[in-house]
Order: sequence, then structure tokens, then C-alpha cells
Amino acid sequence: MKEKIEQIKTQLLNISISNNEQLEQFRIEYLGKKGVIAELFNDFKQLPPDQKKATGQLVNALKNSAQELYQQSKEQLETDKADKVADDIDYTRPASLTSPGARHPLAITMEEIVSIFRQLGYTLSEGPEIEDDWHIFSALNFPPEHPAREMQDTFFIEKKPDIALRTHTSSVQVRVMENEKPPIRTVSPGRVFRNEAISARAHCIFHQVEGLYISENVSFAHLKHDLYFFARQMFGEKTRIRLRPSYFPFTEPSAEMDVSCNICGGTGCNICKYTGWLEIMGCGMVDPNVLKNCDINPEIYSGFAFGMGVERIAMLKYQIKDIRLFFENDIRFLNQFV
Ligand code: DAH
Repeated sequence: MKEKIEQIKTQLLNISISNNEQLEQFRIEYLGKKGVIAELFNDFKQLPPDQKKATGQLVNALKNSAQELYQQSKEQLETDKADKVADDIDYTRPASLTSPGARHPLAITMEEIVSIFRQLGYTLSEGPEIEDDWHIFSALNFPPEHPAREMQDTFFIEKKPDIALRTHTSSVQVRVMENEKPPIRTVSPGRVFRNEAISARAHCIFHQVEGLYISENVSFAHLKHDLYFFARQMFGEKTRIRLRPSYFPFTEPSAEMDVSCNICGGTGCNICKYTGWLEIMGCGMVDPNVLKNCDINPEIYSGFAFGMGVERIAMLKYQIKDIRLFFENDIRFLNQFV
């Protein structure tokens, strides 16, 4: 029996396994139920007891080296296969095209507005979209019976009658004035909400940029200067502006600003309804009551404020006729701004 064991040992040394069929063949022949080693164990049972110990050790050692050979060969075949797959990859092949997407036209417009005012030294400030009555209305001098305070116009948060989605970014001016000392020069872009029927011209969610300048001896001439600069940067050097008297509770005097129509150049077209002018924002000198509400002394300080709709500006700039397009995320629309 010892001879047989020696014989198999030398066989194992000379075996070479180079594919899966050979590996399986080896397993059946040597390690299978009816394989060479199983046969040795059968022979072993017939041995006289005094030979069992020494021979048993030899058979076990043989079985271990056959199993080891099997395992090593199996692993080798697996790494060979992985290497081969890696060799098949062509690293010089150009990658497939991925679309990086495009910035949203409202984001582009909002950033352009902010960067124009930044050139004039305005800082950036932001406030919460869910606001209290004080910051949206009361501090801004809205009388208690003002229609904006009605449920039909404003989204109030249920069970908290004092909390609403802000209807304008003017709420941020109050927050800034409460927290900072003049001189203050800031723009506040953001999302606003109004309970309005959705149409081509109006949406219940839209965006505004609010502006505020508070210092000593600020006059209406300063307001006019900054807004004229903005209009020319935004709509072109030839743009003219005009200020029409208006009313807001938080400014006195108040005005509405128009720019000369950038489509017809002021001669009249259907965009400007043949007036030659486009209304783009509200503005005015901050009402002394508002300054007082924010702990700023109106005897020392004065200032101006303005607020514009981002959708309106973007619609004029890109000649978009329906405000709903901004919110539908239709890829055919968005791709035009790549
Ligand atoms: N808050 C106004 C609105 O939503 C816009 C506005 C008008 C803002 C005049 C101002 C301002 O700061 O002075 O319609």
C-alpha cells in the first residue's frame, strides 16, 4: 500500500491543470467518491491494526496535498480569467457622452440681477420662506385691514394664524434692519407665494429680488442712480427708465419703474402693448414708520427700497410668453439655456 501511495504522490507532482475541464477531471479522478484517494481509504480499512497508524498518516497527508492542488489550481484559473477580461478593455476608447444639464433660466436671471447690484456694493441677504405676520406685514406698515392679509391672497399656515408663506421678499429688509446697523446696502433674492389662479401671466410661486439702502442723507436721486445703472446693465446701454408715482405701505414716496421696451426700442410693439415702456419693479423711499419698527432712527437715517419679479425680468429678457414654462421642467425648454 505504501508503494501505491508513493506512486500517487509522484503523479500529483507531475499534474498540470490549465482549464476548467481538466480541473473537474482531476476532482473526479482523485477526490471523487470513487476516486483514487477514496479507494486508498477503503484499502486502509483492511490493514492489520499495527500498520494503521503510520499508513493512516500517509493517506491523510496525500489527501491534503491533493485538495491543496485542487484549490490552488482553481484560484489560478479564476485570476487568469479576470486578467483576460481586463485585457479586453480598450482604455483609449472615447467615453460615452453624458449631458451635464443646464442652469435654469430663473437661476441665471437671479444671479445676473444680484451680480449687477454687487458691482454697486450691495451685499446678499436671505430670509425664511415661512414667515410671521410682523415681518411680512406689520413691520412694513400694512394697515390691519389690508387685503394682502386676507386668506384669499396669502397662504397662511393652518392653526397658526400669524404664520404664512411670505408674499414678498420685503420681509427680508425687516430682518436685515433688525439685525444690522446702517449703513445697510443689500439685495435679497428668494421665492415668494401668493394665493393666485395660475395663468400665462401669474403663478402662485414666483421669485423676487428685494433691494435696500439705508444710510445718512440718502435721497430719491440715489435710488434713481442705482436703478438706472441696473436697467442699462440688464437690458443694454441704450435703455431709458421712467418712474411713475405709485403706492406701497412701506415706502413714501413710492414709484413704479418702467424701462424702455428692449424689443422695439421704444417705438411700440405687442410686448409693450404699443406704449414703448415695460413695468419692471416697485420702489420708493423707506417709510419712517418702517425704520422706527426696526429700531432705526428716521431723524438720522433715510433710505430707499425696491422689489422686482425675477420671472418678469426673465420673460422680458428671453421673450418667454408663458410663466408656467419656468415650473414645468420640460427639457425642450430648459435645453435652450445651455
Ligand atoms: N414688495 C412689493 C411687491 O411684492 C415690491 C416692492 C415695491 C418692494 C416697492 C419694495 C418697494 O422694496 O420699495 O409687490
